Amino acid sequence: MTQIDNVLHENRSFPPSEEFRAKARYSSEEQYEADYRRSIDDPEGFWGDVALELPWIEPFDQVLDWSDAPRAQWFTGGKLNASAVCLDQHLGGARANKTAILWEGEPGDVVSYTYTELHEAVCRFANVLKKRGIQKGDRVAIYMPMIPELAMAVLACARIGAIHSVIFGGFSASSIRDRVEDGACSAIITADGGWRRGKVLALKDVVDEALSEGGASGGVHTVLTVRRTENPVGWTEGRDCWYHELAAEVDADCPPEPMDAEDTLFLLYTSGSTGKPKGIQHTTGGYMVGTYLTTQVVFDLREDDVYWCTADVGWITGHSYIVYGPLANGATCVMYEGAPNQPHPGRFWELIEKHGVTVLYTAPTAIRAFMRWGDEHVDKHDLGSLRLLGSVGEPINPEAWIWYRNKIGGGRCPIVDTWWQTETGGIMMTPLPGVHATKPGSCMKPFFGIDPVVFDSDGEEVTGEGGGYLAIRKPWPSMLRGIWGDSERFRETYWSRFEGNLYFPGDGARVDADGCTWILGRVDDVLNVSGHRLSTMEIESALVSHPSVCEAAVVGRPDEITGQAICAFVSLAAGLEGDADMEAVLAAHVAKEIGKLARPAEIRFADALPKTRSGKIMRRLLRDVAAGKEVTQDTTTLEDVSVIEKLQGR
Ligand code: PRX
Repeated sequence: MTQIDNVLHENRSFPPSEEFRAKARYSSEEQYEADYRRSIDDPEGFWGDVALELPWIEPFDQVLDWSDAPRAQWFTGGKLNASAVCLDQHLGGARANKTAILWEGEPGDVVSYTYTELHEAVCRFANVLKKRGIQKGDRVAIYMPMIPELAMAVLACARIGAIHSVIFGGFSASSIRDRVEDGACSAIITADGGWRRGKVLALKDVVDEALSEGGASGGVHTVLTVRRTENPVGWTEGRDCWYHELAAEVDADCPPEPMDAEDTLFLLYTSGSTGKPKGIQHTTGGYMVGTYLTTQVVFDLREDDVYWCTADVGWITGHSYIVYGPLANGATCVMYEGAPNQPHPGRFWELIEKHGVTVLYTAPTAIRAFMRWGDEHVDKHDLGSLRLLGSVGEPINPEAWIWYRNKIGGGRCPIVDTWWQTETGGIMMTPLPGVHATKPGSCMKPFFGIDPVVFDSDGEEVTGEGGGYLAIRKPWPSMLRGIWGDSERFRETYWSRFEGNLYFPGDGARVDADGCTWILGRVDDVLNVSGHRLSTMEIESALVSHPSVCEAAVVGRPDEITGQAICAFVSLAAGLEGDADMEAVLAAHVAKEIGKLARPAEIRFADALPKTRSGKIMRRLLRDVAAGKEVTQDTTTLEDVSVIEKLQGR
């Protein structure tokens, strides 16, 4: 709970301007309170009404069945199709020729699709999947750059009822293999490459490597490759096919598969506090209802908005707030392929000016990087089109919040700091931009239907400002329904910490005297590096899988840009030297095992790691060492006190 000291002293607050409030969907505390009250007192009435705004193929009989808690069933008996919610419903009216996706590649190429065009492209894509024998219920892995075909691939799976499992393009071959095997995927959709920092990321090669050693990933019968960068790729006859070749052979007529509300829409793997990533399972009806409403209300969406969420579709933010939520609302979404500083550190601001972006949703890590790159890159661009800013993925420090508000938002745009998780599917806590006087660093209030509570370590409710463990009391439509193939772990991880089927997200929180929530960071062994979730144990197992390593412990240390940075403590096999070369070798090994995003920022070598007499590594102590703090904790249980002095370099 590292943030608690600075946020306790933050008492500035920023109400929305009268101009913003005048046009906002929600513009007063009373209006928010009234709907919030109803959503808590009568969740079925509230969510039932919201759900009726979506196009159902068959109506639902019951809004919520919680009788088998924590297994929730929402909108039972109802049938719908997520791609039809995103596309078909907009075709009849004024949105038919509205831009759905406005995409810009890193080299500056621009392509846009109207709703009619996107619908046609998705139907064609879906027919290509069918032609390759992919059926309802099959799992399809997607490992792609941020190109429009990524959104199409996702929606095409949804259209035919195949379960997509998107793997972020920064993961390594062995991470792909693990996810493909765990989900027993029968196909992988990829691209020859994508542009990142002026270079081609050869994604198809990584997929080939992932599949090269067979194993259970031998069940993959199709690798469908979209052509983007035109770099040469390896080819396995029979298994591999070019998207553009098959697309030319199919038509664009593909009726949406009627899906049960509780049919799985997708899996998305995320790190937990143990070594193995979890396949978080989301279903169709509840997820669509949740992402539809949160997008509309939190971003105060208007028909003429040009909305840009800068996340990658490989993460939950991209699923919910690039693809499903915005398209379900008929929004115009900007999508950008590349790095924020390519070819210059003002690329984001150039994109906003060029495309007239009105709503920007990005991560604190990016904001802090832009602050460091300098105001001059912002000053070159007219950001007057912006009206609303969002933040997601990690706690935002007040300094970055104020810079975002003043420098990017011109002091006029409200900021919505949205707290949520892969597991929650959609935004859980946030201000409403036309309602709340926002405090820098606070995610403010629960969204409709969300009933949070803070407990101390004994499970007693914390009523004052002290802070403790966050829990959620009621089920909500877009909540996860399980961990793929591991129902026991699902119960154990999320539902067993507190009595009475309360959801435990693994975050600490504090509620101030005004009822505003401050997220204090993870309370488990999960790190948040640049808004990316990583498990310390996963990185430790990657390190110890290297023959030179005897033992490893990984902790996070505070970092000005990335929020947390990975610090690894390693003891090497006898006779080996912990020098810069060894550090490079081990960092490269972690990148190979997991992906570059998991590479430690620092590796410290020691003959032994600090342990209790019963043999447990003392992580709290290592966290202090990593942060350069004086070790103040009680070290009397430490087996060998001199270890600490050595680690501190004394
Ligand atoms: O610790 C919280 C942090 O990110 C975690 C969820 O990570 P992930 O599943 O990858 O989803 C990220 C995008 C929703 C949470 O447990 N987190 C997310 N948003 C915030 C946040 N911490 C503080 N403030 C936020 N707005």
